[in-house]
Amino acid sequence: METSYAQRMSAMKPSTIREMLKLTERPGVISFAGGLPAPELFPVEDIRAAAERVLGECGAKAFQYGASEGIAPLRTRIAEEMKTRQIGCMADDVLITTGSQQGLDLLGKVFLDPGDVILTETPTYLAAIQAFQCFEASFQPVVTDDEGVIPEAVDALAAAGRVRFLYVIPNFQNPTGRTLSLVRRRQLAEIAARRNLLIVEDDPYGRLRYRGEHLPPIKSFDEGGHVIYLSTFSKTVAPGFRTGWIVASPAVRDKLVIAKQAADLHTSSFDQLVLDRYLADFDNAAHVRRVCAAYGERYAAMDAALRRHMPASFSWTQPEGGMFLWVRGPESFDSMHVLGEAIAEGVAFVPGADFFPRGGGGNNMRLNFSNAGIEAIEDGITRLAAICARSAQ
Ligand SMILES: Cc1ncc(COP(=O)(O)O)c(C=O)c1O
Repeated sequence: METSYAQRMSAMKPSTIREMLKLTERPGVISFAGGLPAPELFPVEDIRAAAERVLGECGAKAFQYGASEGIAPLRTRIAEEMKTRQIGCMADDVLITTGSQQGLDLLGKVFLDPGDVILTETPTYLAAIQAFQCFEASFQPVVTDDEGVIPEAVDALAAAGRVRFLYVIPNFQNPTGRTLSLVRRRQLAEIAARRNLLIVEDDPYGRLRYRGEHLPPIKSFDEGGHVIYLSTFSKTVAPGFRTGWIVASPAVRDKLVIAKQAADLHTSSFDQLVLDRYLADFDNAAHVRRVCAAYGERYAAMDAALRRHMPASFSWTQPEGGMFLWVRGPESFDSMHVLGEAIAEGVAFVPGADFFPRGGGGNNMRLNFSNAGIEAIEDGITRLAAICARSAQ
């Protein structure tokens, strides 16, 4: 049968990199490629106990259809958590999503018409590019440095033409590990209010800080409802729950609820109930401290191995949390080309070009440090550095 597809599919190309990265699932390959948390740290026993309690208390009700907004106790709990992040909100302001990834998709459905312009950091999260590409958005990367996206550049672009929203990952950004400075958070909130600019603040990593102080979200400076805040339990509990949330103004939230009804009616009732029980009965803050301690050690091991083995022409970011660091090679370095060789030698990463919606960035690599153990990190970086040294000659 000859099949024709929707116009939008022509912009959505299969990723050669994802195909190559399937090879990294072979035993013996040390992968710094995925964005995977460390599974040995998932609180499996606590979750088992929480699931048993939910089954004992709710029985069949745990498997019934529910409200699109999410279950009330979890929304209330998230609203309380938001206060600790300096965002004042009520349970009604919280929409539970099937991971933050669904939040991005719903925002695309609600806000994007073909050709609409989105401002992004340079580089930005690959799967956000994919999510917004489905709606045939056009990407305008904004100049970004070690303190994050540059507010003056956002201001100039917002003044120059119609922009749908700015998409920003404020903490330990994916892919660079950078954090947006406090001054810039305030400036972005001020620009949003002055220019009537919408900001989508995507914060999956904020709680994974190993060093320094937590910074208030952009949303905490937002008085006019210009900032939509997304977060998730994927990194603080486990990604398999597929449970995240959006905090938005009532008008935006109502539109998102309509989009969510069309997408999946609601996020799994059972998953929400178990998560809520786990958060009520167990010490998640202590769990997050353990995760931070482990990731902090892994980050330090990767940084030390890079210092020991990488050629002098390479530099990398020094994140204070999160799961990634970003290695920059000399201009002549082609990380896509090097990936094939690296996989053959049993080590993998994601080439930088994928994170630049308008091209470029091919001399960079994203390295994940949360998933591999300390020994594997040392071994993998030794192998990778040798390949980089050969290719940079
Ligand atoms: C910046 C960013 N946003 C959103 C997500 C999606 O998270 P979730 O598992 O909640 O869908 C990720 C996952 O890695 C991410 O890095």
